[in-house]
Amino acid sequence: MRKLWIAGNWKMNMGGREGIELLKEMRNSLSGSKVDVGIAPPFTLIPHASEILADSGILLGAQNMFYEEKGAFTGEISPSFLLDFGVNFVIIGHSERRKIFGEDEELIKKKVKKALDVGLLCILCVGETLEERERGETKEVVKRQVLSALEGLPSLKGLTIAYEPVWAIGTGKVATPEQACEVHAFIRELIKEDIRILYGGSVKPENARGLLEKEEIDGALVGGASLKVSSFSEIVRIAEEVW
Ligand code: PGA
Repeated sequence: MRKLWIAGNWKMNMGGREGIELLKEMRNSLSGSKVDVGIAPPFTLIPHASEILADSGILLGAQNMFYEEKGAFTGEISPSFLLDFGVNFVIIGHSERRKIFGEDEELIKKKVKKALDVGLLCILCVGETLEERERGETKEVVKRQVLSALEGLPSLKGLTIAYEPVWAIGTGKVATPEQACEVHAFIRELIKEDIRILYGGSVKPENARGLLEKEEIDGALVGGASLKVSSFSEIVRIAEEVW
């Protein structure tokens, strides 16, 4: 079994001073976990997080980045800024970035390549919408997203994929372990590499065990439930039990 990874995506929440307190509480509760634990706070907290989480074993993540190093790219964040603050991983291609900010497959491909080139761990998010699932296009969509993002990569070292069905994100409608496993197995077959494939979409303490017990599921990308120490650490505790 691959080592489980529980990664929290705070999205656009807790990016001000209240986030500093939350980071401290997370550190106290999650240091030295047996499974991999990561937190991706908003950019504004990254310099603080790099100090607060130092030596805790908790991986520090960013929710996005650009693929250029520097220059006239107003509002963007360079990979080297992230590395400078000890960021370990970056989330690329989240469905909110694809849908709300119009990120297309070409852009996502460039970001994945850049992240891996500079030595960041990269969580590539893929997943179908409800309409696509209902039309029976889940595998086709996931295949296109995975293959386009990985096209031309010399190696998948440092890559993790998160299968996040769009209809399960922030909706409280979690995929069943069977639904998730089917897509995870499909992705594994597609890439034929021993990388981790996480599940994401309304993961909560109440449903985490059923998902994490599955051989095909190597961890979780957690949104809403990563904003509270109690729920996030409960998910981590379940992962430790299962692993
Ligand atoms: P959620 O978000 O856990 O709030 O559904 C997951 C994600 O978007 O990564």
